[in-house]
Amino acid sequence: SGEAPVAASAWWREAERERLLAIAAEATPRYVYHLPTVRAQARELKTLAAVDRLHYAVKANTHPAILKAIAEEGFGFECVSPGELKAVIAAVPESAPLLFTPNFAPREDYAWALTTRATVSLDSLYPLEHWGDTFRGREIVLRLDLGRGLGHHEKVRTGGSGSKFGLPVEQLDAFLRLADRHGVTVRGLHAHLGSGILDAGHWGEVYAQLASLAERIGSVAFLDIGGGLGVPSHPGEARLDIAALDKVLREVKAAYPHYQLWMEPGRYLVADAGVLLAKVTQQKGKGALRYLGVDTGMNSLIRPALYDAWHEIVNLTRLDEPATALVQVVGPICESGDVLGTDRRMPEASEGDVVLIAQAGAYGKVMSSPYNLREDAEEVILD
Ligand code: LLP
Repeated sequence: SGEAPVAASAWWREAERERLLAIAAEATPRYVYHLPTVRAQARELKTLAAVDRLHYAVKANTHPAILKAIAEEGFGFECVSPGELKAVIAAVPESAPLLFTPNFAPREDYAWALTTRATVSLDSLYPLEHWGDTFRGREIVLRLDLGRGLGHHEKVRTGGSGSKFGLPVEQLDAFLRLADRHGVTVRGLHAHLGSGILDAGHWGEVYAQLASLAERIGSVAFLDIGGGLGVPSHPGEARLDIAALDKVLREVKAAYPHYQLWMEPGRYLVADAGVLLAKVTQQKGKGALRYLGVDTGMNSLIRPALYDAWHEIVNLTRLDEPATALVQVVGPICESGDVLGTDRRMPEASEGDVVLIAQAGAYGKVMSSPYNLREDAEEVILD
């Protein structure tokens, strides 16, 4: 349509702008999370009538206040490590369901997870071939690779032979024989094709594929069709149509009605709820390019460097001034890849201006690093 996406990010543009400037005046870099936006996103997903259970994929953002807010909206939690499980157990009520879906994890991770209330998923033959005792008599979820991946970047597609995730469908019979030998019951089938998907149709296909495989197994009660619900980032990208997704899921569920339908979104709940605040340090003209330096970079937000991810960047101090400069927004890290935004139109800036990097609530702080021993971005909650 050529129009800017209907931004769930509107909260920072007007209502909270003054508060954000005050937060940045105290210190930068800082991540700021807007809990009303997290709740609004969670409530939108609760309108998916076809979905029986939603687990929040904790990896996107593990801040305890966010975990708590999402628990209050009735979500369960999908965790990929003992650390994530412990963070969730500490932050949310005992009634919240937990899912443990690690990958290439050591035996002791599974053994420990089985002492918690978490439902545990396996995605290879190895655990039952070598650690049968650990799983004896248990109910598990089996993660399958349906042979294809999807997502906003090659590095976040989690299916097909180039991906390390999931049991290939050709090995399903071998898995079921091992499960039988060890008294393990396959209670759920799981597939997650990737992250940042804006096409509602694909989750229906995943459900249908898993359902037809489940018909062969008998013990399956639920199908977890993964997360990956995208949010538009580039101007002009359309939002994922949640009503259309529900329609697709209701149709496919009518064809296979004996299964509960589970999903595990991460990004969708938190991406637009978070911003990264930084301050302008120096500016430089070099060749044809102008560099606008800010006081944090790939150490706080690695997504642009790792996936060429596009994050909207604004000068919050000069939100109303005309965007007359064309700049490369860079951080202070000693790598040429330390770029937050390329070719951005922004107002003429001054040292100390507050720069806001939008849509940083998902896979921001959790992927940050101590590289160059630059100060860690603090996290601030707005409620
Ligand atoms: N379920 C499984 C099994 C997953 O591996 C993931 C994400 C999710 C659910 C949640 O996906 P989401 O709804 O958040 O897209 N760091 C990358 C994304 C990596 C996602 C890894 N797995 C990024 O910043 O785009």
